[in-house]
Amino acid sequence: MPRFIGKTALVTGAGAGIGRAVALRLAGEGAEVFAVSRGSKVDELVELGQGRIAAYRADVSDPQQIEAMVGACVTDYGRIDVLINNAGISHGGTPIHELDVELWDRIMSVNLRGAFLVMKHTLRVMMAQRGGAIVNMSSVGGRRPSVGSAAYIVGKAGLNMLTQQAALEYVAHGIRVNAVAPGMILTPMVKGASEGVIEWKKSITPMQRLGTVDEVAAVTAFLASDEAAYITGAIYAVDGGRCAE
Ligand SMILES: NC(=O)c1ccc[n+]([C@@H]2O[C@H](COP(=O)([O-])OP(=O)(O)OC[C@H]3O[C@@H](n4cnc5c(N)ncnc54)[C@H](O)[C@@H]3O)[C@@H](O)[C@H]2O)c1
Repeated sequence: MPRFIGKTALVTGAGAGIGRAVALRLAGEGAEVFAVSRGSKVDELVELGQGRIAAYRADVSDPQQIEAMVGACVTDYGRIDVLINNAGISHGGTPIHELDVELWDRIMSVNLRGAFLVMKHTLRVMMAQRGGAIVNMSSVGGRRPSVGSAAYIVGKAGLNMLTQQAALEYVAHGIRVNAVAPGMILTPMVKGASEGVIEWKKSITPMQRLGTVDEVAAVTAFLASDEAAYITGAIYAVDGGRCAE
């Protein structure tokens, strides 16, 4: 069922992995998608989107680029019905006492400050149009610690609280704000991990496998759609049962 006909969606981090799958899913269901990434891979989506995807390059760690990005989306489409705040970077293998402040700041500037700034500018657009749906891409890591990933974990925990805070602050404006919390999903971000880490992640996942980008895109699209009209402030785990433990 095409749930997004006549709707406009801004998707960050759309050049690869989960963001790419979400952009294609929303376009496949009729949305006009403004797909953003910092690299050139996002350009490939234009052809795949069959006229429904426009590519835009911006770095969500740069406040000025974020403001220009939201402005460009409004200039092109006139409104933003759906925001998928997905751009994110990870780090691993660094205990807190060895974590450089520069690495901490870089992770936070994308995963938490970037998500906040994209929301800040998009919320103004959604308030003026009296409605919208935001889905933040969190992580199972926002709910439970993982050795060596302090900045990532704390950033995602902050994103969960930002999601719930915004859900409360904007409910009266008809704006819903939810998050998806994936477990380990097979994307370029994860392909960089060692075979040992991937096997270990499988072994601690009740379903004993990694998730797929399409499984995350399906839940993301549901939360962004009118089918989720009574859902706000929720954090949906898509994690093969990790949070059930
Ligand atoms: N893959 C997983 O197992 C997993 C698990 C939990 C949560 N997540 C979250 O899902 C989101 C997507 O992860 P993924 O695995 O698809 O990542 P990925 O590395 O495969 O793709 C990320 C995309 O975001 C873009 N991006 C990165 N930094 C950016 C920036 N500063 N500005 C704009 N674009 C930027 C990249 O260019 C790329 O297109 C992230 O927020 C990540 O934390 C992923």
